[in-house]
Amino acid sequence: MDTTIFETHESNVRSYCRSFPVVFDYAKGSILKSVEGREYLDFFCGAGALNYGHNNDLFKQRILDYIEQDSIIHSLDMYSVAKADFIEYFVRDILAPRGLDYKLQFTGPTGTNAVEASLKLARKYTKRTNVFALNGCFHGMTLGALALTTDLQQRAGGGVPLQNVVHCPAPYQYGDEHALRAIEDLLTDDHSGVEKPAAIVIETVQAEGGIHVFSDTYLQGIRSICDRHDILMIVDDIQVGCGRTGTFFSFERAGIVPDMAILSKSISGYGLPFSLVLIKPQFDIWEPGEHSGTFRGNTLAMIAGKAALELVHSGEIDRGTQAREAIVKDFLTQRIAPMSPDFAVRGVGLIWGIDTKDGALADKIVRNCFESGLIIERAGRASQVVKLMPSLVIPEEQLLQGLAIIEAAVKDALGVA
Ligand SMILES: Cc1ncc(COP(=O)(O)O)c(C=O)c1O
Repeated sequence: MDTTIFETHESNVRSYCRSFPVVFDYAKGSILKSVEGREYLDFFCGAGALNYGHNNDLFKQRILDYIEQDSIIHSLDMYSVAKADFIEYFVRDILAPRGLDYKLQFTGPTGTNAVEASLKLARKYTKRTNVFALNGCFHGMTLGALALTTDLQQRAGGGVPLQNVVHCPAPYQYGDEHALRAIEDLLTDDHSGVEKPAAIVIETVQAEGGIHVFSDTYLQGIRSICDRHDILMIVDDIQVGCGRTGTFFSFERAGIVPDMAILSKSISGYGLPFSLVLIKPQFDIWEPGEHSGTFRGNTLAMIAGKAALELVHSGEIDRGTQAREAIVKDFLTQRIAPMSPDFAVRGVGLIWGIDTKDGALADKIVRNCFESGLIIERAGRASQVVKLMPSLVIPEEQLLQGLAIIEAAVKDALGVA
């Protein structure tokens, strides 16, 4: 189908469509179809919003039943049966078995809105303005979240000075110990020039930053710094939560409990907009209505989200992700990494990256993939990392098919037989 309608009338800001310039019309599981009927395998998953694949039958049926009954669709933050069911299930079957006790804040539907809410609350609670984030992080595009986000081009788009955030070295830049020491020094050196922060905001895996997986000991180190210095630890689990790393919350592997955790993207299970801030009860000092929004609590997302949580609770997601992780890891370490001395492969669960150290090469690889029917994106500095993010429930045959496309695409880009 001709794409002129978009190019003529849609803002120049559009981005992913430039990498995948076809018109999509159908999606099921890990397959997308263009209007011409060409099939594409999805290793992108809506940047983490489709962990359980496209149009899952169970989630879809629940949504259809809910609509069929003329149940409430829009309710701001008024009480609804859909919300009661979601909360009950989330608390009983997701939080309680993990020993977690959080209040749920339903924010506006985008991840960045939930980040804004967590920043406001941390600043309000501690009465401090400064916040620490890490080099390479991505936390969203609205001004508060953008002040955390490190990509300089994206920051420039803000159009105003982005303030009240200090960026600290990431562990992959200087090693865990030195990176932790740098933060500790900023906090203890009375000539550091840096004011004590309200919070340290962190992803356990920098996803947009190039698939950098932080070690358990590093994450425990951050928890310990926050405890010792009376700083809130906020984990942004927007992209790597909801099972992506092999457990529902990405921080579970480190045995830590953040003071706030942020979920979005796959929390609705169905790709519907929905975000949550999880807040340890003692920090929930919001006044009624102090952070509001017309689309807080998307009831359709709650209906599908509860169905997704049932799937998570069955253990099927974690088991399946861990099994598929082994396949992807073996493939990358045995077949891709040896292809070039410059390559590094990194990842956990079902988020993996091929760091090619060369943005043009990574671009060629993802273009080759697209030509061969695979949707895959890039991340990191100079967009040099090819980012593999298949659905957590992708059938093994499709997973292997996608990996074979990547192998051929890398070979072609490197010009090897
Ligand atoms: C870790 C992280 N935080 C925040 C966001 C922003 O979420 P949204 O695009 O829904 O505003 C993203 C989006 O990719 C993300 O990956």
